[in-house]
Amino acid sequence: MKVQVSHLTHVYEGKTVLDDVSLTIENASAIALLGPSGAGKSTLLRLLSKIETPTKGNIEVNGMDVIHTDEKEYFKHIGFVFQHHGLFPHLSAFENVTLVLEKVHKKSKNEAQTIASELFSQFELCDHMHKKPAQLSGGQAQRVSIIRSLAATPDILFFDEPTSALDPILTKEVLHAILKLREQNRKFVIVTHEIAFARQVADVFVYMEEGKVIESGPIAQLDHPNSSELKRFLDFVMSF
Ligand SMILES: Nc1ncnc2c1ncn2[C@@H]1O[C@H](COP(=O)(O)OP(=O)(O)OP(=O)(O)O)[C@@H](O)[C@H]1O
Ligand SMILES: [Mg+2]
Repeated sequence: MKVQVSHLTHVYEGKTVLDDVSLTIENASAIALLGPSGAGKSTLLRLLSKIETPTKGNIEVNGMDVIHTDEKEYFKHIGFVFQHHGLFPHLSAFENVTLVLEKVHKKSKNEAQTIASELFSQFELCDHMHKKPAQLSGGQAQRVSIIRSLAATPDILFFDEPTSALDPILTKEVLHAILKLREQNRKFVIVTHEIAFARQVADVFVYMEEGKVIESGPIAQLDHPNSSELKRFLDFVMSF
């Protein structure tokens, strides 16, 4: 995937949360977005996924001009998964996937069921597909949400801390599911505080602090950070 942002600034209620960020990443398979709380990671992800429009600047994802591409058109190319699964509570896990395929992506009922069945089996969720979200564990619900976002085979998936609402065991389940996506060569951008996981799953990282990109590069660079900020952050998060 290719992600290019130039002079990206975003202001909330008079507060600059992204401050003239410019960044070009080419030929990345999976990008890990790292940094302390409040750095602007989720904001950047929301702008990349066109959930919000930046105050200033330009964004290109795989050659598409994100700001000027029609929302419906752009959403055909991307999928997202957030901290909380966001499944429709009145539908079964299976229907959560098939109905989005039918209504949003205009698949026939048959096609939608074939795609969904294949994915539920791949993610080992067949035993749970007829349950409502409230009857699923957090990890299962989050995996259904991942299935839903990738069912329409988007070019890029955006994950914002998909495991932060989960306990350590459920976190591992979801991380394994994401690792599987990587093995299938799906492209994604993930905000995560799981540094060990980021090293395993991503090939490129972006490190942010206070609305700025401090450092980015190949994932192996995390072993030898260039900036004192990233070094300090890694020393801190690896200290327990
Ligand atoms: N909708 C909003 N309205 C006002 N301020 C916001 C809004 N969303 C985020 N902010 C502010 O923007 C800054 C960056 O927030 P953001 O959520 O992007 O950080 P983050 O790096 O994702 O942090 P975390 O790791 O805690 O999720 C924070 O200071 C936050 O308070
Ligand atoms: Mg965030």
